[in-house]
Amino acid sequence: ADALKIGIAGLGTVGASLVRIIQERAENLTVTCGRPIVITAVTARDRTRDRGIDLSAIKWFNSAEELAAKADIDVFVELMGGANGPADASVRAALKRGLHVVTANKALLASHGVELAALAEEKGALLNFEAAVAGGIPVIKALRESLTGNTVSRVYGIMNGTCNYILTKMEKEGLSFDACLKEAQRLGYAEADPAFDIEGNDTAHKLAILTTLAFGNRISADDIYLEGITNISIEDIRAAADLGYRIKLLGVAQRTETGIEQRVHPTMVPVESVIAQVDGVTNAVAIESDILGELLMVGPGAGGNATASAVLGDIADIAKSRPGAQRVPSLGRPAIKLEPYKRAQ
Ligand code: NAP
Ligand code: HSE
Repeated sequence: ADALKIGIAGLGTVGASLVRIIQERAENLTVTCGRPIVITAVTARDRTRDRGIDLSAIKWFNSAEELAAKADIDVFVELMGGANGPADASVRAALKRGLHVVTANKALLASHGVELAALAEEKGALLNFEAAVAGGIPVIKALRESLTGNTVSRVYGIMNGTCNYILTKMEKEGLSFDACLKEAQRLGYAEADPAFDIEGNDTAHKLAILTTLAFGNRISADDIYLEGITNISIEDIRAAADLGYRIKLLGVAQRTETGIEQRVHPTMVPVESVIAQVDGVTNAVAIESDILGELLMVGPGAGGNATASAVLGDIADIAKSRPGAQRVPSLGRPAIKLEPYKRAQ
């Protein structure tokens, strides 16, 4: 069968892991996907940087926009980050050509996801973004596919690996907030600007995506009550422990009589609850729905391999899909209309 040709924009923590995994597992992927997956085009900012991966047989493009517009590819994989700029422009350029797009970029989706999904559907392309929420946990698949037919009442969980890593290390090793954040950055968990992690924006972006999939309302990160973990001290964590609680940064979206309530804030959770025991970079996402009941998914939430695993799953889905096969709608269920939740002033 014809190879699936992919172009990757962004060769940092996630992009470099993805290249390595695809190259190392080429034979297995050919068998499991029914056709070879071949990287034919890449780009990043610095062409000279040693990334520990072999790019010698791959065409280098000078910009993501050029790669998206001109490369001989079937799938454009965006792993640069940023809500606007080159990420947005290149994803649009790829979709306009009818290319399938895979992205891990929650900031982009929280700002422009519905519009990009509509463009993909208009062009008959797939827009896949499993890695954008909770790293390797297949929560997008769960909402888009497995729970079809359920009415979701609540989605909540730990959705930022950096914050959970910091809170865990502060509690268990008594390290300072800054030392824990530096370590999370070194391990490749944090965003390029870690303020997005610790101030809660990254969790809000992910929650907005989940809310749109779960409840069908338009993405509205601005409607989310937002409080990060920058004010949490070791004393707070110890005081919570004395009372039988642990502090976790939770994102919560739930159906209320007035609409969908969405909030992100540090939360005291009873120490005996499953979610309290989710440590380090691990994430946990709970979905409450009427037919299934409560589903709780726990797994690696950030880092090169965890994220690349989800990106690869999205690429494999495209490799296995056949022209004319039924496509999963990208974002939103337009039949359900709910007003955004209005917070009391
Ligand atoms: P990263 O390590 O900072 O890598 C970003 C890559 O994009 C780098 O290779 C960089 O080039 C390239 N890049 C940045 N701006 C560019 C531009 N204008 N033109 C071309 N290339 C550009 O970031 P990452 O951690 O891999 O994250 C990538 C994306 O995945 C982000 O959207 C992030 O939110 C998302 N994500 C990350 C994780 C994680 O655990 N790291 C998990 C889930 C989702 P240079 O290398 O030359 O500087
Ligand atoms: N910076 C993010 C986190 C990456 O720490 O969870 C995964 O989305």
